[in-house]
Order: sequence, then C-alpha cells, then structure tokens
Amino acid sequence: MNTISLKLFFIEFQRNEITDHLIYCRLSNLTKDYSLKELLEKIADDEMKHYSFWKEYTNKDVKPYYFKLFWYGYIMPFVSKKLALRFMKRLENYAHLEYTANLLNEVEGQWIINDESLHEKMLNQVLENDYLSKTVEE
Ligand SMILES: [Fe+2]
Ligand SMILES: [Fe+2]
Repeated sequence: MNTISLKLFFIEFQRNEITDHLIYCRLSNLTKDYSLKELLEKIADDEMKHYSFWKEYTNKDVKPYYFKLFWYGYIMPFVSKKLALRFMKRLENYAHLEYTANLLNEVEGQWIINDESLHEKMLNQVLENDYLSKTVEE
C-alpha cells in the first residue's frame, strides 16, 4: 500500500477512535451503576490511546464523525441503553475486522486489534451477565 493511501486509512481509523471514545464517555455519563461506569470509562480510555497511536502517524488532530456520535451516543440510548451497548458491541467487531484486514503488515498494531476484541468480549459479558444487564436501564 502506498504512503498516501496508508495515511488516508490512518486518518479514518483515528476519526473512528475519537468518535468511539466520545460515545463511550457519553454512555458512561448516562450510567449509574458503578462497575458498568468503570468498564465504559476503561474502554473510552483505550479508544483514546488508539487515537493517539494513529496521531503519531498522521501528525494531525481529527474531528469525530458527528452523526455517528449523535446516533450512538444520544439517539440510541434514548431509545434503549441496552440497545446502544448492543450496537457498540457490533461496532467493536467491525473495528476488529477492519483492522485485521488492513493493518497486520503495515504497523505494529496487533495490540489495538487485541483491545478491540477485548472490548467486544467485555460488552458481551455486560449484555449476557444477569446482574449487570439488570443495571443497564432499558
Ligand atoms: Fe479502538
Ligand atoms: Fe474498541
């Protein structure tokens, strides 16, 4: 892959990471349960680390996808918080696949792929776990 198309990929990744960071911050703010809040904050922190990783390659700050932020951070939780988490779990899976397809030979990004797959598992546990799922208000 040439340098210009690589950089475009990295900017796209960076933009998704900052968007996800802001969505998780927002979901965490909406959550009253302490352990769930902590988990969402941890994921938000990870997404910010991913953003910073890409920034080292692009040397620029990028803005989030505002529509995605609005949709998953404001509209979805208004409909159902559980549904919002379910959608985020799906996006984690998508991020994982996109990174796997585009990254492995280009940068030392395996740790990000591992993080995204862990996020998916964590959200899955929240949604499957009886105690936590009761605390996620419909
Ligand atoms: Fe990420
Ligand atoms: Fe993630």
